[in-house]
Formats: sequence, structure tokens, C-alpha cells
Amino acid sequence: MKIIIVNGSARKGNTLAAIEAFSEGAKSKNEIEIIQADKLNIGFCKGCGACEFHKGCVDKDDTNSTIDKLVEADMIVFATPVYWWGMTAQTKLVIDKCYCRGAQIKGKKIGVLVPGGSPVDATQYELIKNQFECMASYLDWNILFYKPFYANGKDEIRNNAELVKKITDLGSRL
Ligand SMILES: Cc1cc2nc3c(=O)[nH]c(=O)nc-3n(C[C@H](O)[C@H](O)[C@H](O)COP(=O)(O)O)c2cc1C
Repeated sequence: MKIIIVNGSARKGNTLAAIEAFSEGAKSKNEIEIIQADKLNIGFCKGCGACEFHKGCVDKDDTNSTIDKLVEADMIVFATPVYWWGMTAQTKLVIDKCYCRGAQIKGKKIGVLVPGGSPVDATQYELIKNQFECMASYLDWNILFYKPFYANGKDEIRNNAELVKKITDLGSRL
């Protein structure tokens, strides 16, 4: 499969460690590309509706080229730390901008990696899961995995060999 991973963290911390472990497992059988969301020049969706009449977003920024990559992918992995009980703004920015071409990303396989600073039974992971499940229902996505992690310090995942192996195994199964 062609797998696009949207990294919704700007820090070289837990989200990146989870992405690296996942990629390590998935890379032998799949083609992987990581989109670093914070490095994109993407303006927020203004809800102008012009995309309904154009071939995509009218913003002259990275919106359409980013969505092109999502459209070409068989699987999209959203990797976002929890910020204020939700996904990060840069992750949401990419998702919001898919509005103009939502039909083109229907039916994708989806994975979600979510590190947060609270134990995995906390409300935020359920809220984020619900949000992805609603999107999945709207866009006929097939969520292959939703994986929350309790990790706060920058290197907590990287220093947890058992957890790294679990995430690598997750990738290996694809
Ligand atoms: C602005 C901000 C808001 C946060 N909000 C939450 C939160 O609501 N719930 C939570 O469990 N962790 C929260 N955290 C902790 C991060 O999710 C956690 O440290 C995570 O491991 C960061 O991932 P990273 O190393 O990839 O940046 C927050 C961190 C920041 C910087």
C-alpha cells in the first residue's frame, strides 16, 4: 500500500517516535511518506464554498498538493498528540481543507496514533476516537487501528522498548 502519515506534532517527541516505530514495521511491504503538517503553508478553511465550483481549493498554498497526496494514498495515518482534549490545530487544518475534495478521499484505510499526557482511559482519547469515527462514517473510511498512548515527556515512547515494539508490530501487520 501507499501509506501517507500526517504528523500533527511540531516536536520531535512522542508522535514522531510512534511514527518511526510504525514505519519501521510497515516499510518492508508498503511505501510510506510522512507529511509534516506544521511545515505546510496551509491557510485555514474560510468556508467560502468556491471549491464546489473549482477543481479544489482556490487558496494558492499547499492545500491542493497535500490533498493530492492523500487522494493517491491507499491508507492515511493521522498521528496527533492530544492538545486540549482534541487533535492538534495543524492536524485539523489539513482535515478541514479536505472539505473541498472529500469525495476523492472516500473509502481510504485509516490509522490513528494519539499520544497524550494522561492515562489512556481519559476522556480525550474517547473524544478524538469519536471524531475520527464520525469522519469515517461520513467518508466510508475503514479505520484499521486507533491507538492512544500515555506519554508526556519528549522521549517517553522512544525510551519504552516494549511500547516501541508494539507500535512496530502494528506496522508489520499491514
Ligand atoms: C498545548 C498542549 C496541550 C495539551 N493538552 C493535553 C490534553 O488535553 N490532554 C492530554 O492528555 N495531554 C495534553 N498535552 C500533552 C501532550 O499530548 C503530550 O505531551 C504528548 O506526548 C505530546 O506529543 P509530542 O511529544 O509528539 O509533542 C498537551 C500538550 C500541549 C503542548
